[in-house]
Amino acid sequence: MPKIRIYKIAEQFGIPTSELIDILKDLGAEVKNHMSSIDDDLVELIKEEIDYRRKRAEELQKKKERTITIDAPVTLRDAAKLFNQDLDDIIIRLADWNIIFDTRNPLPPLALEKLAREQGWEIEWKEDVKKKILEAISFEPQPRPPVVTILGHVDHGKTTLLDAIRKSRVAESELGGITQKIGAYQIEINGQKITFIDTPGHEAFTSMRARGAQVTDIAVLVVAADDGVMPQTEEAIQHARAADVPIIVAINKIDKPGANPDRVKQQLAERGLVPEEWGGETICVNISALQKKGIAELLEMILLQAELLELKARKEGHAVGTTIESRIDRGKGPVATVIVQEGTLRVGDYFVAGTTWGKVRSLFNDLGKPMKEAEPSTPVEVVGFTDLPPAGTKLMVTESEKIARIIAERRAEIAREKNLKTPERELISLEELFA
Ligand code: GTP
Ligand code: MG
Repeated sequence: MPKIRIYKIAEQFGIPTSELIDILKDLGAEVKNHMSSIDDDLVELIKEEIDYRRKRAEELQKKKERTITIDAPVTLRDAAKLFNQDLDDIIIRLADWNIIFDTRNPLPPLALEKLAREQGWEIEWKEDVKKKILEAISFEPQPRPPVVTILGHVDHGKTTLLDAIRKSRVAESELGGITQKIGAYQIEINGQKITFIDTPGHEAFTSMRARGAQVTDIAVLVVAADDGVMPQTEEAIQHARAADVPIIVAINKIDKPGANPDRVKQQLAERGLVPEEWGGETICVNISALQKKGIAELLEMILLQAELLELKARKEGHAVGTTIESRIDRGKGPVATVIVQEGTLRVGDYFVAGTTWGKVRSLFNDLGKPMKEAEPSTPVEVVGFTDLPPAGTKLMVTESEKIARIIAERRAEIAREKNLKTPERELISLEELFA
């Protein structure tokens, strides 16, 4: 096999002999000096290594050229200038990412990084700029009430249970005794608030139950002791599991002659929900919603579970929430029930919700009483939408009408374009587009 002298190879590749000798050493080849010679097949290996190093050096150089050093907080306006972008485009991107912003405040660090990355830039932070920004824009999270969703098979007693808790009589007045929509209520016991969401058990309402599970901290699964685990019981278990929400089981109708709580427990255990008293982790409470028995114990279990979850949310700043139902009201126009999740929603706030927007004209609690503001975990009826928002839409308060409108209009535009491009599915719902 022919041998080639090292200095010749170095010349050929255009690198200093010393660098070549380093490479050879790294490869474990023995080299004495630049007059040494090496095998032909080693040359191929060396070439590869040199190519690789060159490419890396180039990439590093490129990266350096595409790095912006941030040495002071950057507002949205600054960012627009920095990336030579339209302010409205940036606003829309932030809304897409569900990032809460205020054009007057510094941009959250991650938002700035994401914006930069989209433009092919890397961000390098100077010392404690990041810390400074976070101090300026973040709020200390405060404890908040749990949001509890009542799930279960049709007629197993969900609404009656809620009536017992609220001391109201909704179940009786319902059309045909079947819950048609999601209802949200807040109660207070011993100074502790709990938000409840009622869902229909009928099989036709799958998406509604899924929506309920989305904003939920704890699921209460109602199972009638005379009927046992049924298809929508199983479906409810799946929703709660998919949302990673703890389940408390209320075994209802224990007053009925055919009631068999142990059989229910057996059926639950077979589905992975092993009751605590059987050595498992699932809390089961025997109740009679009709006779108001076991209600206090169930509430106690809910509060205990809530305490374990240490639920918190920021109270200050722009509100964020989710619509759980919406309807057109003859007098009020489009209204939606919203569960506030972060911040405080106030009368007068501008907001965007999916492709619609509005200004909070009035807020009502679950008893129809007007409210001035709604803190995290509060269910509230919001009046002031320009259009009907589909249930399950995220609502976000914006600092101005203009920003709310820009975001909503751009989203509607995108939705229309998407619709045009998929003629085979004309009936795509807005809910699907913004899921
Ligand atoms: P959907 O919303 O349609 O899924 O039903 P639901 O789960 O809300 O059931 P609802 O509360 O409407 O109750 C259905 C029927 O069961 C009603 O006639 C209630 O009076 C009855 N019921 C509810 N709880 C109890 C109970 O603890 N004991 C007895 N005996 N009947 C009950
Ligand atoms: Mg009901």
